[in-house]
Amino acid sequence: MPAIEINGQVVNVEPGSTVIQAAENLGISVPRYCYHPGLSIAGSCRICLVEIERMPKLAIACYTQAQDGMKVTTDSEKVRQARKSMLEFLLVNHPLDCPVCDQSGECDLQNYYMEVGQYDSRFLENKIKRKKALPIGPHVILDQERCILCTRCTRFCEEVSKSNELGVFHRGNRSVIDLAPGKALDNPYSGNVIDICPVGALTEREFRFQCRVWYLSTQESICNGCARGCNISIHYNTSRPYKAGGKRVQRLKPRFNPFVNRWWICDEGRFGYEFIDHNRIEFPYLRVAGGELEVSDWKKVVQEVSTALKTTLEKFGSESIGVIASPQLSNEELYLIQKVFGELMGIEQIGYRNPWEKEGFQDDFLMQGDKNPNSRGAEELGLTFNVRNILEEAASGKIKVLYIFQHNFESREAQEMLEEADYVIFQGTNWNKTVEFSNLVLPGATHAEEDGTFTNFEGRLQRYQQAFLPLSDSKADVEILTGLAQELGYPLPYLSAEDVFMEWSGSPYGELEEFGELIEEHKP
Ligand code: SF4
Ligand code: SF4
Ligand code: FES
Repeated sequence: MPAIEINGQVVNVEPGSTVIQAAENLGISVPRYCYHPGLSIAGSCRICLVEIERMPKLAIACYTQAQDGMKVTTDSEKVRQARKSMLEFLLVNHPLDCPVCDQSGECDLQNYYMEVGQYDSRFLENKIKRKKALPIGPHVILDQERCILCTRCTRFCEEVSKSNELGVFHRGNRSVIDLAPGKALDNPYSGNVIDICPVGALTEREFRFQCRVWYLSTQESICNGCARGCNISIHYNTSRPYKAGGKRVQRLKPRFNPFVNRWWICDEGRFGYEFIDHNRIEFPYLRVAGGELEVSDWKKVVQEVSTALKTTLEKFGSESIGVIASPQLSNEELYLIQKVFGELMGIEQIGYRNPWEKEGFQDDFLMQGDKNPNSRGAEELGLTFNVRNILEEAASGKIKVLYIFQHNFESREAQEMLEEADYVIFQGTNWNKTVEFSNLVLPGATHAEEDGTFTNFEGRLQRYQQAFLPLSDSKADVEILTGLAQELGYPLPYLSAEDVFMEWSGSPYGELEEFGELIEEHKP
């Protein structure tokens, strides 16, 4: 392996690595605009210039290969002067938009300029005007004046989404990024160009002017939009109260995982967070005489559920209770459902897969047809019972108490069976069709409000973390289930999802690898 010296530190790198990658291995950050590790190398912006011993001119770190014995300096006076000149050049036609630009606070142009800027402008001519705030697709706004022509977006559309909507038009100082004639930036991965644009030229329609980025907090999570389990960060702002119409989750961003999603996520996952703050079940509900659902309190509903389960079990046996778990739930929650209902109460009818749910859109890149994040986890935990059978038995009266987690039964056939059921308990996050047929409703927390793990379709066990507290009176499902077990007379020792994970997998969350682990590897 070639050994290369950067700023006096020596590092061995894989043959074929570039200087910018070698520097990264040492924790030295070289500025970059056009370089992106997930795209081909353009070498056009020249901000990554570095000094290399015995080379007469400065060289670009993103393209130059690391050679054995090479000596590189990334922060000499000559390098700083070159960066300063490049920034001056890039800013020649750039508008003074920073105070009103949505990228402020996370703009690489602003940030590098603050480090090494030519602060007194020498530019006397009028700046070239270009199109501003141009909607180019359902999620993206283009501001041509702010663009520094790094071509990351065009390379993304050519190489990753392979949809070729964007291109560079015209020559010299008239060059602009624009849509190809007759096209719109409307592919299933269009939002990624917003992430990779280093300046405020491509911004998100949904997020624009909603919140300054310095008010955002971040938590690591996993997308629950399909069985891929892309790694994401939740960007949230809890300073605005939910009830005043604010939303806690402001946006989702991809998080690098070389085994799952690399740097990318699909638009369906990126913009599929509305359910976290809207249409939520905020309180426990009981159906009262007259058929209305009435707000109740936790103590009362847990007692009610416990009594219904206990008396049915005593009177009619374990076959009179059916449980429909959900592949939207975490491994910890599914494990606990198995434990409380299966192991402790002896119930065998525990299913999870909605037989009426159709396969969604699937492609050969990230998106999976199974829109549940944890079907594989449910399978691995041994949940197999047929949900259609459970509903049929509930309709025929054989099952007297039906406990449903999260499912939205939209099919008419399922609803007809639910209508016939004696007693339905629903535990979930959002108002849906199943609630209409339920006698009692327990408000659960979304994955943004609790800790847990999902197992993706390839068997990769991945952890997500709580970003903020459950909304209003809703509770994490682990808390609801341990509370119910206590009331049923089965005290369980879990104080958190991690306690359940420890029992299930034999190790704490901290021992799970950064990029997740294949379950075969994880099993003790
Ligand atoms: Fe680069 Fe952004 Fe311009 Fe595209 S719009 S070329 S990503 S600066
Ligand atoms: Fe989410 Fe699936 Fe899209 Fe990944 S591919 S972002 S897991 S919906
Ligand atoms: Fe190296 Fe643009 S990052 S030339």
